[in-house]
Amino acid sequence: MKILITAGPTREHLDPIRFISNRSTGKMGFAVAQAAAERGHTVTLIAGPVSLATPPGVTRVDVTSACEMLEAVQRALPKQDALVMSAAVADWRPIQKTATKLKKRDMEPVIHLVPNPDILKTILPEKENRLFVGFAAETGDPTAEAQRKLTAKGLDMIVANDVTAEGAGFAVDTNRVTFFTVNGQPQVLPLQSKLDVGRAIIAWLEGQ
Ligand code: PMT
Repeated sequence: MKILITAGPTREHLDPIRFISNRSTGKMGFAVAQAAAERGHTVTLIAGPVSLATPPGVTRVDVTSACEMLEAVQRALPKQDALVMSAAVADWRPIQKTATKLKKRDMEPVIHLVPNPDILKTILPEKENRLFVGFAAETGDPTAEAQRKLTAKGLDMIVANDVTAEGAGFAVDTNRVTFFTVNGQPQVLPLQSKLDVGRAIIAWLEGQ
């Protein structure tokens, strides 16, 4: 299969120095990419700003902001059989980005934001017979939000993680996830390495 994977955070700059972002390190998405490449799939990895080495055999495209990630996904999608959106895309960006450093004396104590495009919702009309897998990062029991996002974003599967659980979520090498699909029962996976979570996602894609 040809599999497109997104990973890491996005950065939404106010000026060349300051930005809004989140705690994603890219470990989860890079593990999915490694698992897919290990199985012989053709893998394109769109990465936000992270400091991780590209897994062997993977084609990598680096982006910074959510808008850049959307453009990169739109460019790559026509050739793909499946998409795994593990990136933690910032939902908002500053209304303005200045080309030079904002001086403290010129700054307002309020940052005005505009919503970023929802990448999955934007590309849904291009889905055709491709498989789309999303992630749901929640604090606490992710069931209700995961099921809502599965439907709202037109996904075939969503991988839900409670990012407050021990050994799960951001910046660790393990994760504890549940797979929610449109028709099947939720599949609760044990705490395991992100690479093994990635392998389980790829096995699910291969089984469709
Ligand atoms: O990178 P790590 O440090 O390893 O951390 C892993 C992780 C916690 C980032 C990962 O496991 C995870 O949960 N990724 C999804 C984070 C997220 O943005 O979740 P969400 O519930 O806000 O978004 C739901 C889905 O919509 C996701 O597939 C997301 O990629 C997508 N999305 C979100 C916002 C947006 N503007 N466009 C999108 O397509």
